[in-house]
Amino acid sequence: MSERRVFSGIQPTAGSFQLGNYLGAIRHWVRLQETYQAFYCVVDLHSLTVPQDPAELRTATMTAYAQILAAGVDPARSVPFVQSHVAEHAQLTWVLQGLTGFGEASRMTQFKDKSTRGGAESASVGLFTYPMLMAADILLYRTHAVPVGEDQRQHLELTRDLAQRFNSRFGDTFVVPEAHIVKETAKILDLQDPTAKMSKSQPGGCVFLLDPPKVIAKKIRSAVTDSETEVRFDPAAKPGVSNLLTILAALTARDVETVAKAYQGSGYGALKADAADAVLAFAEPFAARVRELLDDPGELARVMADGAARAREVAAPVLATAYQRVGLVPAG
Ligand code: TYM
Repeated sequence: MSERRVFSGIQPTAGSFQLGNYLGAIRHWVRLQETYQAFYCVVDLHSLTVPQDPAELRTATMTAYAQILAAGVDPARSVPFVQSHVAEHAQLTWVLQGLTGFGEASRMTQFKDKSTRGGAESASVGLFTYPMLMAADILLYRTHAVPVGEDQRQHLELTRDLAQRFNSRFGDTFVVPEAHIVKETAKILDLQDPTAKMSKSQPGGCVFLLDPPKVIAKKIRSAVTDSETEVRFDPAAKPGVSNLLTILAALTARDVETVAKAYQGSGYGALKADAADAVLAFAEPFAARVRELLDDPGELARVMADGAARAREVAAPVLATAYQRVGLVPAG
């Protein structure tokens, strides 16, 4: 087994993962567990940065964990765990907050977007320091590669800056991680507004993988395209059609140009129908597997506890080193 480590995380908030999560990130998690020591995390603490319902968060966390396993993350090959089970994440966050400039944190575009959406006054301090928690997640595992979608790139840059800053002030402690962003699927677009990324905050154009098959198929069949009829991969001029081609190519393990050629002369209807079929061919067995896993909460909790114990084994000594390097006196 390689000594190189991969880490990634996903928020449990929506209950169901969406297609962008799967194509942009989780699919790559599954692949990377073959060649890296892999740590995959349901980041429940991140969900506390916006108002949440306690019962819903508990259910969503269990469901998110089940979805990671159902997608193919294998506890025998990787370490799937829940963030709040490993206290070191919150502890290292505090150290990193002291190293982050106020202006630097203010420049995070995701914070700017999210805080302006609900009104700047109602945004929490947690939303502001969110990227430092994400940096702590990554740095605790001395991570080399972080598979994420394009929207996380800026947070990864901040993580790299913090690792470098810590290392140069206090001595070599953290690995400076690389973002692992797979260009083809780095930004799956909203089906109703193909100028925006697919996101749970715009449910109309977002495919939730645990939705009923009929709902999923209808969303894809009614995807916004354009007023032409020609199927062509051209993200600038034809974002809607190109997005459907990207989705279909990724799910059928083909190159996007090959897929585009297959629909020359056949119009958008056939492309939409086939894209819907390809999504369902993944989503239906996926949802069935999630239900099966959730039907045995005792076993799920056991796998979770085992993941947390293995994560802690790696995280605890790294935190101890960081505490010691910044000048905190050990308890005993
Ligand atoms: P989250 O929960 O919003 O999304 C999980 C992953 O899905 C990717 N993603 C997309 N990829 C392509 N197209 C889309 N439309 C799309 N929408 C979402 C995201 O880029 C992400 O990789 N802050 C993170 C979670 C996090 C994390 C971490 C990630 C916390 N700590 C440490 C990596 C490492 C987030 O909110 O992702």
